[in-house]
Amino acid sequence: MSLKLPGSFKKPIPGQFLMVRIKGRNEPFLGRPFSVYSFAQDGRGVYVEILYKIVGKGTMCLSGQKKGALLEIHGPYGTPFDMDKYPRNVILVSGGIGVAPVTYLASQYRHYLPAAPHLEMVCYHGVTGSRRLLGLERLKEFCSDVFISSDDGTVGYHGSVVEMFEKDVLSYNPEDTMIYACGPRPMLKKLAGLGEVPRFRCQALLEEHMACGLGACLGCAIRVRDGEGRGAYRRVCTDGPVFNIQDIEWDY
Ligand SMILES: Cc1cc2nc3c(=O)[nH]c(=O)nc-3n(C[C@H](O)[C@H](O)[C@H](O)COP(=O)(O)OP(=O)(O)OC[C@H]3O[C@@H](n4cnc5c(N)ncnc54)[C@H](O)[C@@H]3O)c2cc1C
Ligand code: FES
Repeated sequence: MSLKLPGSFKKPIPGQFLMVRIKGRNEPFLGRPFSVYSFAQDGRGVYVEILYKIVGKGTMCLSGQKKGALLEIHGPYGTPFDMDKYPRNVILVSGGIGVAPVTYLASQYRHYLPAAPHLEMVCYHGVTGSRRLLGLERLKEFCSDVFISSDDGTVGYHGSVVEMFEKDVLSYNPEDTMIYACGPRPMLKKLAGLGEVPRFRCQALLEEHMACGLGACLGCAIRVRDGEGRGAYRRVCTDGPVFNIQDIEWDY
Protein backbone atom coordinates (compact mmCIF):
# COMPACT_ATOMS: atom_id res chain seq x y z
CA MET A 1 0.00 0.00 0.00
CA SER A 2 1.35 3.42 -0.97
CA LEU A 3 0.75 6.25 1.46
CA LYS A 4 1.07 9.96 0.77
CA LEU A 5 2.01 11.94 3.85
CA PRO A 6 2.63 15.62 4.57
CA GLY A 7 6.10 16.89 3.66
CA SER A 8 6.81 17.45 7.36
CA PHE A 9 6.64 13.69 8.07
CA LYS A 10 9.99 12.65 9.50
CA LYS A 11 12.02 10.17 7.50
CA PRO A 12 11.91 6.77 9.26
CA ILE A 13 15.18 5.10 10.14
CA PRO A 14 15.22 1.42 9.07
CA GLY A 15 13.59 -0.69 11.77
CA GLN A 16 11.16 2.03 12.84
CA PHE A 17 7.46 1.51 12.30
CA LEU A 18 4.25 3.45 11.66
CA MET A 19 0.97 3.09 13.53
CA VAL A 20 -1.81 2.97 10.95
CA ARG A 21 -5.45 3.49 11.83
CA ILE A 22 -8.45 3.76 9.60
CA LYS A 23 -9.79 7.25 10.03
CA GLY A 24 -13.25 7.58 11.53
CA ARG A 25 -13.63 3.88 12.41
CA ASN A 26 -14.11 2.67 15.95
CA GLU A 27 -13.67 -0.97 15.03
CA PRO A 28 -10.77 -1.75 15.15
CA PHE A 29 -10.20 1.13 17.52
CA LEU A 30 -6.43 0.85 17.86
CA GLY A 31 -3.87 1.48 15.16
CA ARG A 32 -1.74 -1.38 13.85
CA PRO A 33 2.06 -1.28 13.54
CA PHE A 34 3.68 -1.70 10.13
CA SER A 35 7.28 -1.50 9.01
CA VAL A 36 8.35 0.91 6.34
CA TYR A 37 8.96 -0.80 2.99
CA SER A 38 10.08 2.31 1.10
CA PHE A 39 10.34 6.04 1.57
CA ALA A 40 10.53 8.82 -1.01
CA GLN A 41 10.09 12.56 -0.97
CA ASP A 42 9.45 15.33 -3.48
CA GLY A 43 8.20 18.90 -3.39
CA ARG A 44 4.59 17.70 -2.97
CA GLY A 45 5.00 15.40 -0.02
CA VAL A 46 6.38 12.20 1.39
CA TYR A 47 5.58 8.75 0.01
CA VAL A 48 5.80 5.63 2.11
CA GLU A 49 5.03 2.07 1.12
CA ILE A 50 4.02 -0.65 3.55
CA LEU A 51 3.72 -4.33 2.72
CA TYR A 52 1.17 -6.19 4.76
CA LYS A 53 -0.39 -9.58 5.21
CA ILE A 54 -4.08 -9.94 6.05
CA VAL A 55 -4.31 -11.74 9.39
CA GLY A 56 -7.30 -10.16 11.13
CA LYS A 57 -9.74 -7.28 11.41
CA GLY A 58 -7.30 -4.38 11.03
CA THR A 59 -5.43 -5.71 8.02
CA MET A 60 -8.69 -6.90 6.41
CA CYS A 61 -10.10 -3.39 6.81
CA LEU A 62 -6.94 -1.90 5.37
CA SER A 63 -7.19 -4.12 2.32
CA GLY A 64 -10.71 -2.79 1.68
CA GLN A 65 -9.57 0.84 1.45
CA LYS A 66 -9.96 2.49 -1.93
CA LYS A 67 -7.41 4.74 -3.62
CA GLY A 68 -7.57 8.18 -1.99
CA ALA A 69 -8.96 6.96 1.34
CA LEU A 70 -7.80 8.84 4.41
CA LEU A 71 -5.81 6.97 7.05
CA GLU A 72 -4.51 8.13 10.41
CA ILE A 73 -0.77 7.57 10.53
CA HIS A 74 1.52 8.17 13.48
CA GLY A 75 5.26 7.74 13.73
CA PRO A 76 7.90 6.94 12.90
CA TYR A 77 8.21 5.10 16.20
CA GLY A 78 10.64 2.73 17.86
CA THR A 79 14.34 2.10 18.21
CA PRO A 80 15.82 1.40 14.78
CA PHE A 81 18.49 -1.01 13.57
CA ASP A 82 22.11 -0.07 14.31
CA MET A 83 23.67 0.70 10.97
CA ASP A 84 27.43 0.41 10.59
CA LYS A 85 29.21 3.42 9.18
CA TYR A 86 31.70 1.36 7.19
CA PRO A 87 30.10 -2.06 6.86
CA ARG A 88 31.71 -4.81 4.84
CA ASN A 89 29.26 -7.69 4.99
CA VAL A 90 25.59 -7.27 5.70
CA ILE A 91 23.40 -10.35 5.94
CA LEU A 92 19.64 -10.07 5.93
CA VAL A 93 17.59 -13.03 7.13
CA SER A 94 13.87 -12.60 6.61
CA GLY A 95 10.76 -14.68 6.76
CA GLY A 96 7.41 -13.86 5.12
CA ILE A 97 6.35 -10.26 5.58
CA GLY A 98 9.64 -9.65 7.44
CA VAL A 99 10.98 -8.85 3.98
CA ALA A 100 9.53 -5.31 4.30
CA PRO A 101 11.87 -3.83 6.94
CA VAL A 102 14.97 -5.64 5.65
CA THR A 103 14.34 -4.30 2.14
CA TYR A 104 14.10 -0.75 3.47
CA LEU A 105 17.27 -1.31 5.48
CA ALA A 106 19.02 -2.64 2.37
CA SER A 107 17.89 0.36 0.33
CA GLN A 108 19.29 2.78 2.90
CA TYR A 109 22.60 0.94 3.15
CA ARG A 110 22.93 0.92 -0.62
CA HIS A 111 21.98 4.53 -1.34
CA TYR A 112 23.29 6.41 1.64
CA LEU A 113 26.61 4.74 2.19
CA PRO A 114 28.76 5.67 -0.77
CA ALA A 115 31.61 5.54 1.73
CA ALA A 116 31.27 1.76 1.78
CA PRO A 117 32.05 0.71 -1.79
CA HIS A 118 33.04 -2.78 -0.65
CA LEU A 119 29.74 -3.43 1.06
CA GLU A 120 28.51 -6.95 0.30
CA MET A 121 24.85 -7.42 1.07
CA VAL A 122 23.24 -10.83 0.91
CA CYS A 123 19.67 -11.78 1.75
CA TYR A 124 18.28 -15.14 2.87
CA HIS A 125 14.53 -14.98 2.53
CA GLY A 126 12.05 -17.70 3.45
CA VAL A 127 8.41 -18.11 2.45
CA THR A 128 5.83 -20.81 3.02
CA GLY A 129 5.47 -21.33 -0.74
CA SER A 130 6.03 -19.65 -4.12
CA ARG A 131 2.66 -17.84 -3.95
CA ARG A 132 3.91 -15.93 -0.93
CA LEU A 133 7.10 -14.73 -2.55
CA LEU A 134 6.95 -10.93 -2.69
CA GLY A 135 9.46 -8.18 -3.35
CA LEU A 136 12.18 -10.36 -4.86
CA GLU A 137 13.02 -7.91 -7.67
CA ARG A 138 13.45 -5.05 -5.25
CA LEU A 139 15.70 -7.08 -2.97
CA LYS A 140 17.85 -7.96 -5.97
CA GLU A 141 18.34 -4.24 -6.70
CA PHE A 142 20.15 -3.85 -3.41
CA CYS A 143 21.69 -7.25 -2.63
CA SER A 144 24.43 -9.04 -4.53
CA ASP A 145 22.75 -12.38 -3.78
CA VAL A 146 19.25 -13.29 -2.71
CA PHE A 147 18.70 -16.89 -1.59
CA ILE A 148 15.12 -18.08 -1.34
CA SER A 149 13.72 -20.98 0.65
CA SER A 150 10.20 -22.33 0.91
CA ASP A 151 8.59 -24.65 3.43
CA ASP A 152 6.79 -26.60 0.70
CA GLY A 153 9.68 -26.70 -1.78
CA THR A 154 7.78 -24.82 -4.52
CA VAL A 155 10.58 -22.25 -4.84
CA GLY A 156 14.26 -22.24 -3.91
CA TYR A 157 15.73 -24.33 -1.12
CA HIS A 158 13.23 -26.81 0.35
CA GLY A 159 13.21 -26.09 4.09
CA SER A 160 13.42 -23.20 6.49
CA VAL A 161 15.37 -20.04 5.83
CA VAL A 162 17.44 -20.63 8.97
CA GLU A 163 18.49 -24.11 7.78
CA MET A 164 19.48 -22.55 4.47
CA PHE A 165 21.48 -19.83 6.20
CA GLU A 166 23.11 -22.35 8.55
CA LYS A 167 24.76 -24.03 5.56
CA ASP A 168 26.60 -20.77 4.73
CA VAL A 169 27.17 -19.21 8.12
CA LEU A 170 30.75 -20.48 8.45
CA SER A 171 31.72 -18.70 5.23
CA TYR A 172 31.20 -15.28 6.86
CA ASN A 173 33.64 -13.53 9.15
CA PRO A 174 31.98 -12.41 12.42
CA GLU A 175 34.53 -9.59 12.72
CA ASP A 176 33.13 -7.64 9.77
CA THR A 177 29.64 -9.02 9.32
CA MET A 178 26.38 -7.72 10.70
CA ILE A 179 23.23 -9.85 10.63
CA TYR A 180 19.75 -8.31 10.58
CA ALA A 181 16.67 -10.49 10.90
CA CYS A 182 12.92 -10.13 10.78
CA GLY A 183 10.26 -12.77 10.57
CA PRO A 184 7.95 -14.95 12.63
CA ARG A 185 9.03 -15.57 16.24
CA PRO A 186 9.85 -19.29 15.71
CA MET A 187 12.16 -18.36 12.86
CA LEU A 188 13.97 -15.75 14.94
CA LYS A 189 14.24 -18.14 17.88
CA LYS A 190 15.78 -20.77 15.62
CA LEU A 191 18.25 -18.22 14.28
CA ALA A 192 19.20 -17.16 17.81
CA GLY A 193 19.81 -20.83 18.61
CA LEU A 194 22.35 -21.44 15.84
CA GLY A 195 25.68 -22.19 17.49
CA GLU A 196 27.58 -19.69 15.31
CA VAL A 197 25.23 -16.72 15.69
CA PRO A 198 26.51 -15.43 19.10
CA ARG A 199 29.85 -14.75 17.41
CA PHE A 200 28.16 -12.15 15.15
CA ARG A 201 26.49 -8.85 15.85
CA CYS A 202 22.91 -9.85 15.12
CA GLN A 203 19.79 -7.75 15.52
CA ALA A 204 16.21 -8.92 15.24
CA LEU A 205 13.07 -6.90 14.62
CA LEU A 206 10.10 -8.29 16.56
CA GLU A 207 6.62 -8.04 15.08
CA GLU A 208 4.76 -8.44 18.38
CA HIS A 209 1.18 -7.48 19.19
CA MET A 210 0.89 -3.84 20.15
CA ALA A 211 -1.82 -1.62 21.55
CA CYS A 212 -0.76 2.00 22.12
CA GLY A 213 2.57 1.84 20.28
CA LEU A 214 3.82 4.62 22.56
CA GLY A 215 5.19 2.88 25.61
CA ALA A 216 2.16 3.57 27.83
CA CYS A 217 0.14 0.33 28.06
CA LEU A 218 2.89 -2.33 28.51
CA GLY A 219 0.90 -4.59 26.19
CA CYS A 220 3.97 -5.37 24.09
CA ALA A 221 6.40 -6.29 26.89
CA ILE A 222 8.91 -9.05 26.26
CA ARG A 223 11.49 -10.61 28.53
CA VAL A 224 15.18 -9.99 27.85
CA ARG A 225 18.57 -10.32 29.55
CA ASP A 226 19.86 -6.88 30.49
CA GLY A 227 23.48 -5.67 30.25
CA GLU A 228 24.35 -7.58 33.46
CA GLY A 229 22.68 -10.77 32.29
CA ARG A 230 19.68 -10.34 34.60
CA GLY A 231 16.11 -10.94 33.43
CA ALA A 232 14.20 -7.75 32.60
CA TYR A 233 11.17 -6.56 30.67
CA ARG A 234 11.34 -4.32 27.63
CA ARG A 235 8.61 -2.68 25.56
CA VAL A 236 8.76 -3.70 21.92
CA CYS A 237 7.24 -0.37 20.83
CA THR A 238 9.79 1.94 22.46
CA ASP A 239 12.80 -0.15 23.59
CA GLY A 240 12.41 -2.10 20.33
CA PRO A 241 11.17 -3.31 17.94
CA VAL A 242 14.85 -4.00 17.23
CA PHE A 243 16.82 -5.98 19.83
CA ASN A 244 20.12 -7.78 19.93
CA ILE A 245 19.01 -11.31 19.18
CA GLN A 246 21.05 -12.80 22.01
CA ASP A 247 19.33 -10.61 24.62
CA ILE A 248 15.84 -11.98 23.95
CA GLU A 249 14.41 -14.69 26.22
CA TRP A 250 12.56 -16.73 23.65
CA ASP A 251 10.82 -19.20 25.93
CA TYR A 252 9.35 -16.73 28.36
C1 LIG B 1 7.20 -3.27 14.68
C2 LIG B 1 6.21 -4.09 13.89
C3 LIG B 1 6.27 -4.07 12.51
C4 LIG B 1 5.34 -4.81 11.78
N1 LIG B 1 5.43 -4.77 10.42
C5 LIG B 1 4.54 -5.44 9.69
C6 LIG B 1 4.59 -5.36 8.27
O1 LIG B 1 5.42 -4.67 7.69
N2 LIG B 1 3.65 -6.06 7.57
C7 LIG B 1 2.69 -6.83 8.19
O2 LIG B 1 1.88 -7.44 7.50
N3 LIG B 1 2.65 -6.93 9.54
C8 LIG B 1 3.53 -6.23 10.29
N4 LIG B 1 3.46 -6.31 11.64
C9 LIG B 1 2.40 -7.15 12.25
C10 LIG B 1 1.08 -6.40 12.16
O3 LIG B 1 1.11 -5.27 13.01
C11 LIG B 1 -0.06 -7.33 12.59
O4 LIG B 1 -0.18 -8.35 11.65
C12 LIG B 1 -1.35 -6.54 12.66
O5 LIG B 1 -1.33 -5.71 13.79
C13 LIG B 1 -2.53 -7.48 12.74
O6 LIG B 1 -3.68 -6.70 12.92
P1 LIG B 1 -5.11 -7.30 12.58
O7 LIG B 1 -6.11 -6.37 13.16
O8 LIG B 1 -5.23 -7.60 11.12
O9 LIG B 1 -5.11 -8.67 13.32
P2 LIG B 1 -5.83 -8.97 14.73
O10 LIG B 1 -7.31 -9.00 14.50
O11 LIG B 1 -5.27 -8.04 15.76
O12 LIG B 1 -5.31 -10.43 14.96
C14 LIG B 1 -5.70 -11.50 14.09
C15 LIG B 1 -4.95 -12.77 14.44
O13 LIG B 1 -3.56 -12.60 14.17
C16 LIG B 1 -2.83 -12.74 15.37
N5 LIG B 1 -1.84 -11.66 15.35
C17 LIG B 1 -2.10 -10.33 15.25
N6 LIG B 1 -0.96 -9.62 15.29
C18 LIG B 1 0.03 -10.52 15.43
C19 LIG B 1 1.44 -10.41 15.56
N7 LIG B 1 2.05 -9.23 15.55
N8 LIG B 1 2.15 -11.54 15.71
C20 LIG B 1 1.54 -12.74 15.72
N9 LIG B 1 0.21 -12.91 15.61
C21 LIG B 1 -0.52 -11.82 15.47
C22 LIG B 1 -3.81 -12.57 16.50
O14 LIG B 1 -3.46 -13.34 17.63
C23 LIG B 1 -5.06 -13.13 15.90
O15 LIG B 1 -5.08 -14.52 16.00
C24 LIG B 1 4.34 -5.60 12.43
C25 LIG B 1 4.30 -5.61 13.82
C26 LIG B 1 5.23 -4.85 14.53
C27 LIG B 1 5.16 -4.84 16.02
S1 FES C 1 2.18 -1.11 22.73
FE1 FES C 1 1.68 -0.01 24.54
S2 FES C 1 3.53 -0.10 25.67
FE2 FES C 1 4.07 -0.98 23.76
